[in-house]
Amino acid sequence: MTDWPVHGTIDGPIVLIGFGSIGRGVLPLIERHFSFDKSRMVIIDPSDAHRHLADERGIRFVKAAVTKDNYVDLLQPLLTEGGGRGFCVNLSVDVSSVDVMRLCRSVGALYIDTVIEPWLGFYFDRSAGPEARSNYALREGLLAERRSNPGGPTAVSCCGANPGMVSWFVKEALLKLCADLGLKHDVPATREGWAALMNFAGVKGIHVAERDTQRASIPKPFGVFWNTWSVEGFVSEGLQPAELGWGSHETGLPAIGRRHEGGCQAAIYLMRPGADTRVRTWVPTVGPQFGFLVTHNEAISIADYYTVGEGATPEYRPTCHYAYHPCNDAVLSLHEMFGQAGKAQDTFHVLDETEIVDGSDELGVLLYGHSRNALWYGSRLTVEEARRLAPYQNATGLQVTSAVLAGMVWALENPEAGIIEADEMDHARCLQVQKPYLGPMEGHYTDWTPLDGRPGLFPEDIDVANPWSFRNILVD
Ligand SMILES: NC(=O)c1ccc[n+]([C@@H]2O[C@H](COP(=O)([O-])OP(=O)(O)OC[C@H]3O[C@@H](n4cnc5c(N)ncnc54)[C@H](O)[C@@H]3O)[C@@H](O)[C@H]2O)c1
Repeated sequence: MTDWPVHGTIDGPIVLIGFGSIGRGVLPLIERHFSFDKSRMVIIDPSDAHRHLADERGIRFVKAAVTKDNYVDLLQPLLTEGGGRGFCVNLSVDVSSVDVMRLCRSVGALYIDTVIEPWLGFYFDRSAGPEARSNYALREGLLAERRSNPGGPTAVSCCGANPGMVSWFVKEALLKLCADLGLKHDVPATREGWAALMNFAGVKGIHVAERDTQRASIPKPFGVFWNTWSVEGFVSEGLQPAELGWGSHETGLPAIGRRHEGGCQAAIYLMRPGADTRVRTWVPTVGPQFGFLVTHNEAISIADYYTVGEGATPEYRPTCHYAYHPCNDAVLSLHEMFGQAGKAQDTFHVLDETEIVDGSDELGVLLYGHSRNALWYGSRLTVEEARRLAPYQNATGLQVTSAVLAGMVWALENPEAGIIEADEMDHARCLQVQKPYLGPMEGHYTDWTPLDGRPGLFPEDIDVANPWSFRNILVD
């Protein structure tokens, strides 16, 4: 049996909000890697479907939905009871990250989440335009909170697999690329240093390129949405506009592209739902593939972090976006959903590790446009290995929960860092904690570009002079 290291002590209460696929998966990792008093841990979820996991451990379970009206009264006593520094792990949907982190920081508790989640209603508000329903808007809300309350207790924002871990992969990949290119440089110690190095290496853009090949043991029935992680979360983000960090090498905004009125200007959005927007990308197992340009926080934060200069026309900025091929059952589910004008199925289901026969989640970053063309670097975790490593999760889940673990360790070691994004954390330390859970971590170069094999049998509007232009990546 593996001798798992204990990374730290949590001396106050642990409040886990949300006991879905990620909440359940994180529980055994918290038990394994921290010393803490179980009688001071509490799990909150309006569904008690998995309550037995808490009961059998002697962990308190509160069957309740955290809402805008009750969150202060419900959470404040739980975060402070019995003294010590509390730790809030927010793995729910429809619970405002910014409001809960503000409360945590006001009582001195640490905080972590995997997405900037708004209160219930935000994603499907027909009175709000696409810009208001964007992740850009959610991130600007977080940045405004940080500007009004700088420093103080650590609140780690968006620290799952992606957003989260992939920001650490970007740094590893960049260092590998520089080494392979023979570029002489110091390991950067500042944001400006990392941005300058990305520019120096000639990287034009970054895909968060993922292929989930996990297969269920039975075929998906009609009228249900299956996925390997939160269907609720995926449907919500999938119906937000597609968003991407907009690189300085791009030659022209797509016809459906829009800039934002205010804020950092690192990203644009498209007048189309992300889960109905396809892009061309590349991953090691299958090579070239279509991915969905689903909006994600990291597309914006990474583009912002690696900007040299500022505003809408900086000296340098990489294009950055998600290019996600979910499991085949989720692709089919999306096809059915968009066939009904975006009306989601009545039944949602997250496939757990016992329902999956085989497959892996290949999740990495593709740094492209440099003199070696493109480098994919990431995790190739199979469901079999995930089962061996930790209970209650599939390969997708373990990539997320182990990032939460790493983020929690980092917060304990840096308890007064204020509100922080994954790009700003010590990537080497975080990956040191996380790597035992990621399966093979590999770098692969490829000669593929989005112009390969094109034009095919029909004329196409392609930019031959700039193979890595977003115009060539977007599937019209
Ligand atoms: N960054 C990443 O890599 C990443 C990956 C996967 C999931 N996520 C995010 O993590 C979160 C959890 O994902 P999941 O797969 O566990 O989702 P899930 O749908 O399996 O579980 C969500 C849980 O939240 C509970 N919940 C709903 N409303 C609540 C409320 N008002 N108060 C408290 N709990 C409530 C639900 O009952 C459910 O148990 C989602 O926001 C998802 O988008 C992030």
